[in-house]
Amino acid sequence: MMDITKACEAFRVLLEEQQARIANANEEKKDFSKMETVTIGIIDGDGIGPLIMTQAEKVLRMLLAEEIADGRILLKKIDGLTIENRMALGKSVPEDVLAQIKSCDVLLKGPTTTPMGGTMESANVTLRRELDLYANVRPVSIPEEGIDWIFYRENTEGEYVLGSRGISLPGMAVDFKVTTDFGTRRIAKAAFDYAKQNGKTRVSIVTKANIMKKTDGKFTEICHQVAENYPGITADDWYIDIMTANLVNPSVRNSFQVFVLPNLYGDIITDEAAQIQGGVGSAGSANMGDRYAMFEAIHGSAPRMLAEGLQDYVNPTSILRATVMLLRHICRQKAAQRLEKALDTCKVNVTGDASGATCEAFMTELFTLL
Ligand code: IPM
Ligand code: MG
Repeated sequence: MMDITKACEAFRVLLEEQQARIANANEEKKDFSKMETVTIGIIDGDGIGPLIMTQAEKVLRMLLAEEIADGRILLKKIDGLTIENRMALGKSVPEDVLAQIKSCDVLLKGPTTTPMGGTMESANVTLRRELDLYANVRPVSIPEEGIDWIFYRENTEGEYVLGSRGISLPGMAVDFKVTTDFGTRRIAKAAFDYAKQNGKTRVSIVTKANIMKKTDGKFTEICHQVAENYPGITADDWYIDIMTANLVNPSVRNSFQVFVLPNLYGDIITDEAAQIQGGVGSAGSANMGDRYAMFEAIHGSAPRMLAEGLQDYVNPTSILRATVMLLRHICRQKAAQRLEKALDTCKVNVTGDASGATCEAFMTELFTLL
């Protein structure tokens, strides 16, 4: 436990680190259409991770068979990102694992367990920071309701960047939220670029700027500044509380298109949106940076399913939706479309418990559709 003098010193160090982060920002982009070889890292994770990743790897090997055979695509298996190994080494991402990850161009990652409390950072948060994956992109679509949403969640700042570095003083605890100009500008630009390239006409900025005046105030202001460079796209701003209500209001929800929002609100509302689509097992998630990109399921490692003996009922849909996003990102449009169409038409209903179909039944049907 710290006293106030020590807390101020700790705070000074945090501020200096954040300033250094801004100063070291690097914005050089990778162009996958011009790369001769692409290395895809395969990270199983833990809990149900290895079960769903086995399926995703099978699908990738089938869709990319030719390019894997002639060496244009390399699948690189990366071990060691398990909760057991991370706890034993006391590292959220052990150094040798991080080095292997950094040797890849893109990553497909199974869920990793985040210990509650303590000081061990979530592996996701570490990887998002280390690889500078600043845009968390989560699409949700319900064609029969005219819903086609895409969430651009800021992924390296906000409540997460110092989430494991809060300060405990006698009788109280303080956490920090950080919003930078450059961090906000780049996520806003990513959201508006997506809108422009995909014929969208509206981007909704979602914050709680009436309460988080400095950080969310800055976020809203910078998003509006960026919007000025995109004529024909309307930027509107909302508070997160009413937006969570809007998403369950059938008379307004299909009017929203693209959302841009700070990290924690994005975390929460994308689970809500995925649930509206058919559950957190149904949505994919992409963590995008300028140099690396990591694709993953939106859900966690579900240790409960394993404890209850439900391993046969795991739902691979979310990681396979993420696989579609990965294929698109590396410019393998045909393979992406094949998988997406098969997922859209596969009607085997996996619910994550014994009331639904098994993962095996789903995969058997999916392969006949591919
Ligand atoms: C997500 C997850 C992560 C997050 C956890 C696992 C750290 O909920 O990707 O949405 O909070 O970002
Ligand atoms: Mg989440």
